Amino acid sequence: MVLKVAARAKVPPFIVMDVMSQAAAREAAGERVLHLEVGQPGTGLPRGAAERLAALIETERLGYTVALGIPELRARISRHYREAHGADVPPERILVTTGSSAAFQLAFLGAFAAGDRVGLAAPGYPAYRHILKALGVEPVIFPVGADSRYQPTVPVLEAAGERLDGLIVASPSNPTGTVVPPDEMRALAAHCEREGIRLISDEIYHGIVYGEPAVSAAGLTETAIVINSFSKYYSMTGWRLGWLVAPPDMIRPLECLAQNMFISAPTLSQYAGLFAMDCEDELQANVARYAANRALLLEHLPAAGFDRLAPADGAFYLYADVSRQTNDSQDFCRRMLMETGVATTPGLDFDAEQGCRFVRFSFAGATEDMAEAAKRLKAWSAASGS
Ligand SMILES: Cc1ncc(COP(=O)(O)O)c(C=O)c1O
Repeated sequence: MVLKVAARAKVPPFIVMDVMSQAAAREAAGERVLHLEVGQPGTGLPRGAAERLAALIETERLGYTVALGIPELRARISRHYREAHGADVPPERILVTTGSSAAFQLAFLGAFAAGDRVGLAAPGYPAYRHILKALGVEPVIFPVGADSRYQPTVPVLEAAGERLDGLIVASPSNPTGTVVPPDEMRALAAHCEREGIRLISDEIYHGIVYGEPAVSAAGLTETAIVINSFSKYYSMTGWRLGWLVAPPDMIRPLECLAQNMFISAPTLSQYAGLFAMDCEDELQANVARYAANRALLLEHLPAAGFDRLAPADGAFYLYADVSRQTNDSQDFCRRMLMETGVATTPGLDFDAEQGCRFVRFSFAGATEDMAEAAKRLKAWSAASGS
């Protein structure tokens, strides 16, 4: 007998995963593939943290922790908000999670009921809308472009006139890297408070910026849920560690959900994160490498035909309008991989409507890979007129 698969489980795949498997196949065939598709640092856990962790493994049992996370880490994150943002975020409002991905599940479950409507920008990180849909929450898509720095703004929301229960904002954003300026973030926070909209602020790329630091919603309003992660700035994707800052009245319900769904975030990772927060020099060296990679690509990509790029204020992405070359970015990325060995992500992952004419380059990898990719793409463009 064939039993049913729940309709809610039928969420679309990550297209980038398909690119990654095509890239792996070419590597298996002996080709050198340049990975500008994956959104993860080329580096691992900071050395300083790895050394302290090695000593800890000898002595600690590393059992479950309390669901909210180890007190030292919650206190350290609270200190981070004071030092980086001048914001008073008590440890009691901080919940340590299994990556920001688990924080989204907790936040959406805690804040929204089935049938609620949550606004989000397109282009944007695809998992937001896929998780919302799996939970029976309706994503309300706001198409955004260069005129609003690819971010939702209060005028964008007001012009659309949609009734919303929640709004997701990511600054710096994936895939565009654009940052919401402080005044606009304040305006968005005030608008959400006024209209009774639960603001979810995804701050996973905080710390990776090339101009002014991104402002945290945690310093602007107590009603927002603020989500962050150790994956990007702290270079710890595989450790699956993140956190959220919850409004005081939500922390207990979220704690109970976390107890039931996850018991606790991985204990070893919690200590790794705690130690990584003391490795500022190494982490800043990573950001300096991203800045060099970004400068290199901004210099060379235009000569390869990629001259219409979103202003990458932060994160490690360049989002290129390739409508002059193609209206099928998935096919374009596949051809680019086959003919140059440069793997990139089609915009369709981030924007179901307009993504067919965009490509995302990730510059999180090694600088020499960026230089080689730029060289190959220039030659490709010259040869094919792409
Ligand atoms: C904007 C954004 N949010 C969240 C995530 C999920 O990250 P993690 O679960 O590793 O914290 C990603 C991953 O690429 C991302 O780009």
